[in-house]
Amino acid sequence: MSKKLTICSIVGARPQFVKLQPFSKQLRKYYHEIIIHTGQHYDKNMSETFFQELAIPEPDYNLNIGSTMHGQQTGNMLAKIEQLLIKINPDAVVVFGDTNSTIAGALAAVKLHIPTIHVEAGLRSFNRSMPEEINRVATDHISDFLFAPTEEAMANLKQEGLEKISLLSGDIMVNSLSNAVERSSVKKGLLKSIGLASGKYYLLTLHRPQNVDNQDNLVLILSQLNKLDFPVIFPIHPRTNNILKNDHTARKSFDNIIFIEPQSYLSFIYLQLHSYKILTDSGGIQKEAYILRKPCLTIRSETEWVETVKTGWNRLCTPSDPQLVNIIKDFSPPTEHPEIFGSQVAEKIVNKIKSMING
Ligand code: UD1
Repeated sequence: MSKKLTICSIVGARPQFVKLQPFSKQLRKYYHEIIIHTGQHYDKNMSETFFQELAIPEPDYNLNIGSTMHGQQTGNMLAKIEQLLIKINPDAVVVFGDTNSTIAGALAAVKLHIPTIHVEAGLRSFNRSMPEEINRVATDHISDFLFAPTEEAMANLKQEGLEKISLLSGDIMVNSLSNAVERSSVKKGLLKSIGLASGKYYLLTLHRPQNVDNQDNLVLILSQLNKLDFPVIFPIHPRTNNILKNDHTARKSFDNIIFIEPQSYLSFIYLQLHSYKILTDSGGIQKEAYILRKPCLTIRSETEWVETVKTGWNRLCTPSDPQLVNIIKDFSPPTEHPEIFGSQVAEKIVNKIKSMING
């Protein structure tokens, strides 16, 4: 039997571990996979717990890059990934999503003339002040092949002249979620331990720089949400926690908000499944909310996941809107719920890779 070709998957941040799981499982049927973890996320509950719960193979390399300024973080990754890729000499490199780890991985690979594949391509917020938007556009335009999660993403790629190297595969998080929903029942003691009843709480996440890096903005958002009709449970991202942690008075004054640590993947799915409504500024959670049929209110002025808004299941909200509390309370999606993220996505992606990269 001929030796399997080697494909290197590069990840670094929480949402990428979730996407890696079904991809890796399918890829390993045909290829030798090497996982590089940049170390962009490094806290136990932002990284290690995800690998354990999702049963993702241990990364072969962890670059321990950690947190610093964006340019420095991306540059440090680039230098270390380049060295590693020279050593590994893979037959292809795969990057996921839109983080600094994505652009660093893609740039290192293409400069070494290694075929570079981007999973979750074509998303656009058209807001250049988001670091993720720069990462997406740049990664799409330097990669050799692009997998688009939605028709809208595919249309963006066509518009930018990238159609010939793109395939509408659907969204790989569909596979991640379908594996996790059933398994999340192991977390059934969670609500009781927090003192919440199923269907009677809002689930909140916030980590986007525009919402959290300015303490006044963050306090404005939390002050509004504190007035909601059910408790708000808030697994707090380290970035957001860093902003709030020196202000205990602010935290205490939000008596309708329950601050908890960042949750593991299965715990977070469980919290979503039992929530009344979801409030977020995360891209991945807008998708998960849609697939799980939960009403979602996105605290941002635009979204890359436009289909979730067009179908009426997601609504964009501005933190400074004096009507924010009423908008959230009154939001009620329609009964129609079309499939927008596809199915058997990991299989489609790996089949296409097989048609491009074989021995
Ligand atoms: C990153 C991604 C974002 C993704 C998000 C998911 C970029 C530009 N952004 O944002 O697209 O949606 O991950 O969570 O790549 N920190 C810790 N421990 C950790 C990780 C981070 O304490 O394990 C703190 C550090 O203080 C750091 C801050 O969080 O400065 C931000 O982390 P970083 O990875 O730079 O960006 P995120 O906001 O997590």
